Amino acid sequence: MKPQIWRFDNANALYYALANSLSNAVQGFITPTHKPVLALPTGNTMIPFYRIAADSERDLQVSLWTCFNLDEYYPITPKTEALSFRSYMDRHFYSHLKNPPLRREIMDGSAKDYTSECERYEQQIKDAGGIDIAILGIGINGHIAFNEPGSELTTRTRAIELHPQTLMANFKGEAPFTHALTMGIGTILEAKRIFVVALGQNKAQAVKGAIEEVPTRTLPASALQSHPDVTWFLDQEAASGLKA
Ligand code: GLP
Repeated sequence: MKPQIWRFDNANALYYALANSLSNAVQGFITPTHKPVLALPTGNTMIPFYRIAADSERDLQVSLWTCFNLDEYYPITPKTEALSFRSYMDRHFYSHLKNPPLRREIMDGSAKDYTSECERYEQQIKDAGGIDIAILGIGINGHIAFNEPGSELTTRTRAIELHPQTLMANFKGEAPFTHALTMGIGTILEAKRIFVVALGQNKAQAVKGAIEEVPTRTLPASALQSHPDVTWFLDQEAASGLKA
């Protein structure tokens, strides 16, 4: 299925266009009996966006959102708490809001039993009626959330071993984690709409593979080709490998 591909000359133009699209998309999921359910990413790419989104919180109707984060490092201890995605979300988004979202959920990276924590999270998403809008970043190796190369299309929320390339991209020096909890590819593909954001030359190869090459487990983002409503937000560098 053909995705929509939007290219931008600079990051700011991309972030504002994303905010605008998100505002419209959110509106589309508000009915008298339903409020929008979002899957939210972390990563460096999204940091400026969260500030813009917080500044536009009324327009984006953030106070009506149910938020599920895509992933979390595992295990989180008091020592590594500041590196958790829970902390990231507070630092970059939630703490800047005047009115918090209806619900904010993230896997509990400090849970002892990660299998039941993942099952609990998957059930929470189901109980919320599934994800309406998933916003994704993409890893240099083509991961989405923390679905590393080799992840099956049918995967659900689970624990995963992080790829050395991911650890290198996310941590300077020695990585404090080797594992994470992540929504599965199957979980993400059930979202009704998907927005993917990629900036920079180091994402060009993964973006090209995800959009133009035959889907393969070695490039998890290529699974998005089977989804009927994907919009890519790319800067010129990230889009530089694409044919058209
Ligand atoms: C991270 C997250 C992903 C994110 C991706 C890109 O590790 N698990 O959800 O989309 O990798 O991160 P960045 O924006 O820092 O390149």
